[in-house]
Amino acid sequence: MSTISSDIKINRVLESKLSKTNLQDIPFGRVFTDHMFIAHYIDGEWTQMEIKGIENFSLHPSNLALHYGQSIFEGMKASKNADGQPLFFRPDEHIKRLNRSADRMCMPHFPEDLFLEVVSELVNIDKDWIPDMEGSSLYIRPLMFAMDEFLGVAPSERFKFVILLLPVGPYYDKPVKLIADPQFVRAVKGGTGEAKTSGNYAASLYPSKLAKSKGYDQILWLDGVNNSLIQEVGTMNIFFVFDDHIATPLADGAILKGITRMSFIQLLKDRGYDVRERHISIEEVMESGKNGSLIEVFGSGTAAVATTVEQITYGEESIHFESDKAKIAPELKSYIEDLRNGRIEDTYGWIKKA
Ligand code: COI
Repeated sequence: MSTISSDIKINRVLESKLSKTNLQDIPFGRVFTDHMFIAHYIDGEWTQMEIKGIENFSLHPSNLALHYGQSIFEGMKASKNADGQPLFFRPDEHIKRLNRSADRMCMPHFPEDLFLEVVSELVNIDKDWIPDMEGSSLYIRPLMFAMDEFLGVAPSERFKFVILLLPVGPYYDKPVKLIADPQFVRAVKGGTGEAKTSGNYAASLYPSKLAKSKGYDQILWLDGVNNSLIQEVGTMNIFFVFDDHIATPLADGAILKGITRMSFIQLLKDRGYDVRERHISIEEVMESGKNGSLIEVFGSGTAAVATTVEQITYGEESIHFESDKAKIAPELKSYIEDLRNGRIEDTYGWIKKA
């Protein structure tokens, strides 16, 4: 056993599972590395911090997170450069967003410096798990959830914070088909849509299942007031490339403020595009798709990176985009992947060595 700072124990596993894992064939979300980080929030402070082999938790059946969903998470990525040095993409933004989600969900902040320290230590311990294949990386899933054993609807006073690592391939390995279905709503302004909290994802399960049963990959969420303004996809934010500008829905409190979204807005502006964060209605998108002024649509996200949209369906109508003619999404994707793998100079200061 060793420690990184006075309070964090490190207990490495005796035998790695890596030699029994095929990193060439990794479905998203099912393969975990050897170690996890865990910390407990008790009596107003983070304590009992440890890096150790992944193991199950023991939870009381009245655990408040299970009943009322007081649970938040993040998704970030590590890749490695040609020397095998693990590199993070914008980890400072991810911990800031986790703490904003914590505010919305009545949860404690996890200190930014401590997060950067423990996530670096964890990724360095499991760095051999970072896949080499183009488009693959190590997905990092920080998770915080309530630990009080109480059936009253009230914020918990005790929490667990965990960081899991997963080697992953692309979340979407082909262009996607989306359906905008006004009978379902993911989030409304004033709700929890901007927080990365479990309930937002729970709300998406049934409509997404229905969409998949009809041959679509995901829902294109519309706002709950007008049932018209496009919000996001649930697994990613969305960009529309019109003939005279690029638009993405305004982050009005009901959509997740994606870190990839924010990065793409900056990259596109710096390439001279007129990028507008604005209200975009589904009617405008369908009309522009039909009259040819909407040229390309793509999603952005940590897991999804830049995923081309090949079809949007709304009511009886569908618009189609030839994915092999998509220009912007493939350009952004290759730039981000070159940055993440240290193949190009990081002029933005987005990459941090683990
Ligand atoms: C991410 O992109 O990190 C997410 O959390 C989306 C999730 C659906 C995998």
